[in-house]
Amino acid sequence: MAKDRISVGILGLGTVGSGVVKVLRQNREGIAHKVGLPVEVAKVVVRDLNKPRSVDLLPGVLTTNPAEVLEDPAIDVVVEVMGGIEPAKEYILRALHRGKHVVTANKDLLAIHGKELFDAAAEHGSDLFFEASVAGGIPIIAALKESLAGNRIRKVMGIVNGTTNFILSKMTALGAGFGEVLAEAQALGYAEADPTADVEGYDAARKIAILASIAFNTRVTLRDVYVEGIAKITARDITYARELGYVIKLLGIAREAGGVVEVRVHPAFIPREHPLAAVNDAFNAIFITGDAVGDTMFYGRGAGELPTASAVVGDIIAVARDLTHNVSGRIACTCFEQKPIRPMGEVEASFYLRLAVKDKPGVLAGIASVFGNQDVSLATVLQKKTMGEDAEIVLITHRVQEQNLQDALCIIEGLSTVTEISNVIRVVEGEA
Ligand code: NAP
Ligand code: HSE
Repeated sequence: MAKDRISVGILGLGTVGSGVVKVLRQNREGIAHKVGLPVEVAKVVVRDLNKPRSVDLLPGVLTTNPAEVLEDPAIDVVVEVMGGIEPAKEYILRALHRGKHVVTANKDLLAIHGKELFDAAAEHGSDLFFEASVAGGIPIIAALKESLAGNRIRKVMGIVNGTTNFILSKMTALGAGFGEVLAEAQALGYAEADPTADVEGYDAARKIAILASIAFNTRVTLRDVYVEGIAKITARDITYARELGYVIKLLGIAREAGGVVEVRVHPAFIPREHPLAAVNDAFNAIFITGDAVGDTMFYGRGAGELPTASAVVGDIIAVARDLTHNVSGRIACTCFEQKPIRPMGEVEASFYLRLAVKDKPGVLAGIASVFGNQDVSLATVLQKKTMGEDAEIVLITHRVQEQNLQDALCIIEGLSTVTEISNVIRVVEGEA
């Protein structure tokens, strides 16, 4: 019998789940025209039936029993917006094994167990879409999988965590310290009560792992990503960056060269003219370089109820269109190659170094000679200020292999003339 509607079961009615219900409701007629059938929320699974909700549902729609979504043959699309690894993984696999199609926003799960989920989707010819898992409302997954599919992607570089971008933007604008701005981000609801995953870079690492997998057609997991967070960035680093013509951003960077993939998350100096330097507050942006398209940038809100729901609902519509045209499974997993990951020690970058040293003759020469012996060439050397018997110096290196820089720093740390290596931050120029 021909379908008269697309039935959706939602797992979770928190920030994103509520947004999905609202967007499906507020744009109901337009969505029905685009799909050719009405799209209806049939069931919503939560943990606690008595919790106050920001959306009203008809009696019987809310349930604590996942089987009412996963086992009901009338449900076409399962939307997983619960978060976490389990039971989300088990529920998605159960849905796929029942021949249902799945939309998820779950970066934590995809960045670790993506292969298992995509294999199950392929086995059953199901759609498994995940636009909201990276950069909230920005349509970056579909862009990579569809609109840019004709390119060989060389580089993906992005600001993919709103919380840390908010913190760094405020530190830059106000000259404030990290702790002070983190407290404000928490008060405004940008940062979680436990902001570790954002501040330490793990949220961005999950997102860049997902983007790298699609961009380079090879499975990249969270374990492959080198991660550094922003907790070590000080107001002084931000001031020196500005004086040198840079801004500091937490970047996710993935590149492919010679069949080898490098993938990392760390704070970086980027030139103030770079388009990513102008991305402020909680906004996200992803800069992609393809061999045919050249440079492109995608900008928007990386989180929040309605922006994230925009991505989830876009995926629901894509699944619904595939169902109405009987072409489900059309855009499958694109990891059809196996490329090695470049060890971090072999990655090349320029570096900003801030050191506290004894303020006496010959100190700089001693440091320069250690760098020279390790093949680290210096581009800029500045003495910034004196602090009692110490002076603060700032150095910018030319591009060097990470390992050479780290070896040099180990030696420099042991010099009697060096009081402290105060900070080390990579510098990203526009290199492809
Ligand atoms: P949330 O506000 O914490 O909501 C989670 C929902 O899932 C709640 O309704 C909760 O039920 C339900 N839930 C959790 N565990 C469950 C279980 N075992 N059984 C049944 N229901 C369960 O989370 P969120 O912010 O909406 O995020 C959802 C997903 O979207 C996560 O994967 C997140 O990473 C991703 N995401 C979020 C954003 C964002 O801006 N928030 C942006 C992009 C991606 P109760 O309400 O009864 O507790
Ligand atoms: N915590 C994330 C951020 C939002 O700050 O960007 C969810 O992906």
